[in-house]
Amino acid sequence: MTDAAVFLTALGRQLSVMSLYGPGHNARTEGMDKITNELTMLLRGNAFPAFTFLDGDVVYEGHVLNELRHWEWSLKLGDVGIERLEVGPGTTRDALEGFLEEAHARMSLEGEGASFQEMDGQTAIRFGGVTLDPDEADVEEESHHDPLALSLEDEAEVIQWLHGEVDLHGVVPADEAAAVVKLLSVAMHSEHDVVVPLVQLKAVDQYTTTHSINVSCLSMALAEHLNFVSTDVRSIGEAALLHDVGKTKVPLEVLNKKGKLTDSEWVLIQGHTVEGAKILLASGASMALPATVAYEHHLSLNGEGYPELTFKRQTHEVSRLIQVCDVYDALRTRRPFRPPWPATRTVKFLEEKAGTHLDPEYVSAFIQMIGNWEPRQVDLESEQDEAAA
Ligand SMILES: [Fe+2]
Ligand SMILES: [Fe+2]
Repeated sequence: MTDAAVFLTALGRQLSVMSLYGPGHNARTEGMDKITNELTMLLRGNAFPAFTFLDGDVVYEGHVLNELRHWEWSLKLGDVGIERLEVGPGTTRDALEGFLEEAHARMSLEGEGASFQEMDGQTAIRFGGVTLDPDEADVEEESHHDPLALSLEDEAEVIQWLHGEVDLHGVVPADEAAAVVKLLSVAMHSEHDVVVPLVQLKAVDQYTTTHSINVSCLSMALAEHLNFVSTDVRSIGEAALLHDVGKTKVPLEVLNKKGKLTDSEWVLIQGHTVEGAKILLASGASMALPATVAYEHHLSLNGEGYPELTFKRQTHEVSRLIQVCDVYDALRTRRPFRPPWPATRTVKFLEEKAGTHLDPEYVSAFIQMIGNWEPRQVDLESEQDEAAA
């Protein structure tokens, strides 16, 4: 087992012990000894361990911890508002114990209805809900970095890593893709209203990463707006995240070319649909919907678009839903070959294409949705080149 899993397992065991034995009991003291030791081990390998608890899984360093899939304590902690736990290098035994007492109180019946006080900055351990507030994050740059604020930089990094894996192995790591979608969904629901984070990168070569995040968030928001059940919303978010994964096969200089594309370059670009579908079909049974969307997302309602179908047919409804969000984000983003379109012009374009190219029902729902749920721009720093676009 990894140090992270060992530490969390000890933490979960201690929570069980606390429900059986009162304060001062030997079993509690021994449990605390063990957790403190495990923390020391964990900190040797990672100075700032941070865990996110989502739907029974644990996300650690951008990946789902396989050893703790469907971990009961992830569900229980998440249920009482503890979706994130950070244990910095100065975390003391007392601070850990304080955290466990708080978690235990929240989970036990006596804790119900009590007003919970999160620990303040005097300890190195922090926990709470996952939030996304880019405005706050900006302020924190100057003052203190709040370890609880979830920044989409982590998701962007995981997506870049995903694209790297596709390049190396030709398949998408399905668990990590699902984990990113879960994190995006949590970020969207961190406030009372749904927030649709739209990421803008400063470097054009990271377009595919930011575009994947944006189309995923927009598609989940649209699916929710249309009252799809939450499992479908997530499936749509995943398909949207991966719709352009075939672009990993297109050379960057072609993707970002400023001038007119040659015929052969245009063939390469169009090939991202078929290439994406092939990659996703090779990635496992859970990728059937993403593969369909990757294949169909450039096919229009009137049969135009690519790849050319031998027999014309209507595309999958999820392809049509994601297509609207895809077109919106593509036009709103600055590209090497054109400036970003203003929102009003983009909406007008969607309306013009409704019924011929785009599904009119999804277009009108989308326009209604973005009127209700204002997208919020998130600026990411671009530190490294996106090797895989
Ligand atoms: Fe595409
Ligand atoms: Fe796209």
